[in-house]
Amino acid sequence: MGGRFVIRGGRPLSGKVRVSGAKNSVLKLMAASLLTPKECVIRNVPRITDVETMAEVLRHLGAEVDWQGPVMRIRSGEFEGRRAPYHLVRRMRASILVLGPLVARFGEAAVAIPGGCNIGARKIDLHLKGLQMLGAEVITEHGYIRVRARRLRGRDIYLDFPSVGATENLMLAAVGAEGITRIENAAREPEIQDLADFLRSLGVEVRGAGTPLVEVEGGLPGKGTDHAAIGDRIEAGTFALAAAVTRGELEVEGVNPLHLRLALEKMAEAGVEVEEREDGFRVRGNERYRAVDVATLPFPGFPTDLQPQMMVLLSLAEGVSVITENVFESRFMFVGELNRMGCDIEIKGQHAVVRGVGRLSGAEVCATDLRAGAALVLAGLAAEGVTEVLDIHHVDRGYESFEEKLRSVGAEISRVGT
Ligand code: EPZ
Repeated sequence: MGGRFVIRGGRPLSGKVRVSGAKNSVLKLMAASLLTPKECVIRNVPRITDVETMAEVLRHLGAEVDWQGPVMRIRSGEFEGRRAPYHLVRRMRASILVLGPLVARFGEAAVAIPGGCNIGARKIDLHLKGLQMLGAEVITEHGYIRVRARRLRGRDIYLDFPSVGATENLMLAAVGAEGITRIENAAREPEIQDLADFLRSLGVEVRGAGTPLVEVEGGLPGKGTDHAAIGDRIEAGTFALAAAVTRGELEVEGVNPLHLRLALEKMAEAGVEVEEREDGFRVRGNERYRAVDVATLPFPGFPTDLQPQMMVLLSLAEGVSVITENVFESRFMFVGELNRMGCDIEIKGQHAVVRGVGRLSGAEVCATDLRAGAALVLAGLAAEGVTEVLDIHHVDRGYESFEEKLRSVGAEISRVGT
């Protein structure tokens, strides 16, 4: 994993950038395509490694996946696969989302138990408890989760936590259940709403996506669909913060600004100028920023996936900010790397106390996960001198043509090694 970004900081970004399709929607639309034997066309698909991995999982299961540019065609006619193997699942935990559609369609599935990752244990107990409540038998042995169900019966399910993945997996399983399934305390993310739109385009009755109560009427679809995924709100927020920390000005397109409204409001509270547009927003940096407190929460709260990037902005603010990470139990791993660039951040449990500093200085740093890697790139863009971000395979998981997009708006960044 020798790839690294070499960045010379200090140049304000300016110009227009278009975000790609949302990674955290497309991965689930791909899994949902397993529900029907007919062809599903998914548009606005980003060329990123997590999508490549999910395509490999579907092919491993026997589906046909044809991917040309941003258009992916999936056909899972009469295929034999039922098992997502460890070597693929360990690479991308979202593979767990094939469980729901496979059980719905074929009554059985096996997926390797996904390990934890650098931001937390990433448990899946809520996924499995929900499947059992729908009537599935769940057996965990030899590193695999096997799920079997002669028949799934719709019923009321209550999630202890509005888990994004559990909500999605159970929506997909419910398509194969008899009767109505009501998921209470469901996650409300825009990606859940996009998945519901996709299911509705297949003819599935889904109501309430985007609210804490989602209802799915059982009934496997017999037709295919052609659906364009929503824009990536986290990529968009990352570019907004890139403009802010370089005190530049960007027009960000290809995203619904309402999908990251609270994040943009929080940036504005810190002194960033933000103007919502039809298909995105305009963002302008400032010489001085105010310290603000941030607490990550499930949607519509401040997104945990923008927490590391926001920490870079607050490191440049005047005063002390407190960032509270409420979603993952260890999403501060990268703070040590930021402090090596001159930040002054102290971790106290689930809080990060961020003392504003006048300037950052370029250094060699290591990406620990996808969003931390993006945050280190932002720090490099803001820092004086040269920054090398190592292990950028993490970044490639979720950002398409990241350095090209940044270069197109004035960043001095290049990729060295693969
Ligand atoms: C999705 O992960 C996203 N990934 C994450 O984005 C995002 O950070 C997260 O939602 C929260 O918004 C994809 O969509 C592929 P969760 P997911 O289930 O579904 C606990 C990125 O950078 N939990 O809402 O795994 C869990 O441990 C990635 O793009 C249980 O305890 O998130 C975590 O602490 C990172 N039991 C919290 O809930 C369960 O059964 C949030 O998890 C499930 C989750």
